[in-house]
Amino acid sequence: MLRRALIRPGGLWTSFDVVTATGSTNSDLVRRTPLAEGAVLVAEEQTAGRGRLDRSWTAPPRSGIFLSVVLRPGPGVPVERWGWLPLLAGVAAATGLSRSAGVDTSLKWPNDLLVKVDGEERKAGGVLAERADDGSVVVGIGINVTLRADELPVPAAGSIALAGAVSTDRDPLLRAVLRSLEQWYGQWREAAGDPVLSQVQPAYAAGCATLGRRVRAELPGGRSVTGEAVALDGDGRLVLALADGGRQSIGAGDIVHLRP
Ligand code: BTN
Repeated sequence: MLRRALIRPGGLWTSFDVVTATGSTNSDLVRRTPLAEGAVLVAEEQTAGRGRLDRSWTAPPRSGIFLSVVLRPGPGVPVERWGWLPLLAGVAAATGLSRSAGVDTSLKWPNDLLVKVDGEERKAGGVLAERADDGSVVVGIGINVTLRADELPVPAAGSIALAGAVSTDRDPLLRAVLRSLEQWYGQWREAAGDPVLSQVQPAYAAGCATLGRRVRAELPGGRSVTGEAVALDGDGRLVLALADGGRQSIGAGDIVHLRP
């Protein structure tokens, strides 16, 4: 059973709830009113976990970290920069996992956490950020921790246990991820959301497995575009270098396939 993480007085996290089971921690927080910045909700089990693009997020009970937090960047951060929040959360989760579990985690743009299992990249986690009606952002993080090979929801999935984690004790992992998220978010907010000043953009780029690879992005309307992922623009969009010499930025709503 997960215990209450330590809430540092004066720190970002203002409340911390652990529930045995719920549908989705993101749905619970989005519905909660009023939403207080720094509220943290963790579930031992989710029965209707959600991922990006209306996908489902499934994991056996107590096999991972299922966590959502409320962030409210406020008027100090221009709203155009809020798109960095899910990327920032990915950096924070990767940093926390490497610190506490000794696992190298890379990021598949925009929101996937990848680990290496037997030399192959596998998805071990993801981030789902959603705007609530009151202007807050609910950021959900799911991480497969203890899953064995026969428990993986899909063959392309992985877990930090399968990636050789030195520890799969969920309490310290959860604390490390929250601590890291507090640090990255604080830095980003202090820099008024500037992705370079806050170091979020360089940190994301350094850990991003998508950059330097050929990708195919499926765009709305059934179109697709293929190119080499060369950079992230100032809004966190992925910049593709196309075969005709042009460049195209794609948004987080577009589906990206990495091509070998
Ligand atoms: C994705 O891979 O598309 C994102 C997955 C996000 C899963 C987490 S688990 C905690 C929170 N609650 C949810 O329903 N989803 C997120």
